[in-house]
Formats: sequence, C-alpha cells, structure tokens
Amino acid sequence: MSTDDTTTTTETEESTGKCGASATDETSSESACGGSSSSTDSSTSACGASSDTESEANEEAEEVGATVDDFDADPGTLVAVGLGPGQPEGMTDRAKAALADAEHIVGYTTYIDLIPDDITDDAEDIYDTPMCGEVSRTEEAIDRALAGNHVAIVGSGDPNVYALAGLALEITESKGAMASMLDFEVVPGVPAAQSCGARLGAPLVNDSVSVSLSDHLTPMDEIESRLHAVAGEGFTIAIYNPWSRKRRENFETACEILLDHRDEDTPVGIVHGAGREDEEVEITTLGELESYGETDLVDMTTTIVVGNDETYVFDDRMVTPRGYETKYDY
Ligand SMILES: C[S@@+](CC[C@H](N)C(=O)[O-])C[C@H]1O[C@@H](n2cnc3c(N)ncnc32)[C@H](O)[C@@H]1O
Repeated sequence: MSTDDTTTTTETEESTGKCGASATDETSSESACGGSSSSTDSSTSACGASSDTESEANEEAEEVGATVDDFDADPGTLVAVGLGPGQPEGMTDRAKAALADAEHIVGYTTYIDLIPDDITDDAEDIYDTPMCGEVSRTEEAIDRALAGNHVAIVGSGDPNVYALAGLALEITESKGAMASMLDFEVVPGVPAAQSCGARLGAPLVNDSVSVSLSDHLTPMDEIESRLHAVAGEGFTIAIYNPWSRKRRENFETACEILLDHRDEDTPVGIVHGAGREDEEVEITTLGELESYGETDLVDMTTTIVVGNDETYVFDDRMVTPRGYETKYDY
C-alpha cells in the first residue's frame, strides 16, 4: 500500500544519528512478534542513512512483510496514543491510562523519552528506534498486536496530525487484517498547533489550517499551491515541519508565498519545543520571518503561527478576533 498520502505525514525530529532499533529487554536484538517473515530485526534496521529528519531517511526501502495468516495467536490490541507537546502534565489521563495498559510500547526514541518513567518501567517491552523507519516501526507494532500482545504506538501531539494513526490503519489493511480484530483505537493528544497557540496567546481562535513544509511525502509544488490557497483565503496558518538542513529552500519559499498574500507587518508567532525543556517563544512579523530560518529557534521541533489580516499583538500576546466585536460592545 502506498504511503504517499498526506494523512500519513511522518514524524520528524532534528537528528543526525543513524538508525538502529533498540529494545529494553532480552529480546532486544529480535522482534518480539510472532510473524514468520516480517519481524523487524532491531539490530539490523534497514536504515543506515544519515539524515536530519527521521522522515527523509529511507522509506522507499521499507516493505510490509507478514500477513494476518502468518499469525496463529488470538490477536491482541493496538492503540495509537498522542503524547501531547512533551511534558507529562501535557498528556491526557486517557493517554496515560492507555500506556499503562499496554504490554508493549513502540515509538521513536525521542517520543518514548517523553513518557513518564513509571509507565515505561511497568511495560513488558519498549521498542524504540532513534530515527527513521516509521513504516517498519508501525509494522512492528501491528505484528506484535497480531501476535497477541497489547500494544501502544506513540507519537508527539495527536496521532491524527501528521502522525502514524493513518499509517497504522493502512498497514493493517495491507496485511489482510481488520482494525476491529485489534480493537484499533486512537487516543488523542494536544497537537502542536494548539500547544504552541496557547504559548502565543490566542492566535487560532478563528478559522485556521495547518500546513506541513515537509516534502518527504508531498511534493513541494503541491505544498506551494496549498500555501497560496490558504494564505489567499485569510486563514490563520500553523506551519509544521518548518525547517531542516534539507528544507532551507522550502522555508524561504513559504515565506515568499506568505508575503505574496499578506502584509509584512502580519504578526507571526514562533514556538520552539513547546512544553519541553528547551521551549522558546518569539513573536515577530511576516517580513522578519525568513531571517529566523538560520537561527536555533526554527527547526524541526518548531511550529510557526502566521496571523491573518485581523491578528494583532496585545501585551506580547497574539490575538485573532473571532468577530465578537462586530456584534457586541465591550
Ligand atoms: C510530524 S509532525 C508531528 C505533529 C504531532 N503529531 C502533533 O499533533 O503536533 C512534527 C512537527 O510537529 C511540530 N511539533 C511537534 N512537537 C512540537 C513542540 N513540542 N513544539 C513545537 N512544535 C512541535 C513541529 O512543527 C514538528 O516539525
């Protein structure tokens, strides 16, 4: 099944490490799943590429292996859990409960590290990969569930926002399995747009859209036409995946497109690492935005919120009026 679908846009983090899955118990060099041919051998991940984002590494090489017929056990369960922005207080109780119930927790190492230790300590097995391999990691989670385990696959923010919930369903389908066999469930988390919007004040109160500048799964000309469309329609825009070494030009192009449609004084909020130790927040203008591209503030853990024609800055907070002032006196 093709993964070239924007709903399966990938996890991305700034990193230059090489990929090699690790597990935290004795099974660390082998997949715990019972599939006959597709188990991801964590010591020999197919990914050897060095890349500055997980998603840019090597998805072409990944193929889905075992089918549902390769598993003899009664299926377990699979839950996609959104961790929210980063700190444990930002996780929902439901997310914590779903993780506490899981026997196996699967995820990108950075995201696994966001989970409170008391939860990971209680899990039977943690399967984490430092970078790349989101297809094989998702398949690993599904295979473990098909082999009878209760599995949680985790990601930052919400599983439905440029994350792995869609990929999990697509791979489940391609294996000939059914979502219902695994009691597949998505546990939402606070998406970056919302956690970053909160840091900035109230920039997203009216119609808004998210655009990812990652051209890993969506061609840049398509991203450009989407940006033209939404910037021209006056939405407040949350920009995900704004910059990486390989995406310098995408960021510059995006700034130029936004300036085609909006005044250079338009307020722009930049939030790096919302809810994490290195959180930084800055409010600037659209005219200045491009100059932040080469600073530490803008990278793959940054979300940028571009105001609409009505957005203004009040006491260091962005405000996008919803229109109450047109109906009420205050
Ligand atoms: C692949 S997307 C994952 C989005 C995630 N599923 C969500 O709901 O927020 C990764 C992008 O989310 C944004 N992001 C994730 N965590 C963030 C954080 N703590 N602070 C700011 N932006 C963040 C960045 O734009 C990053 O490049």
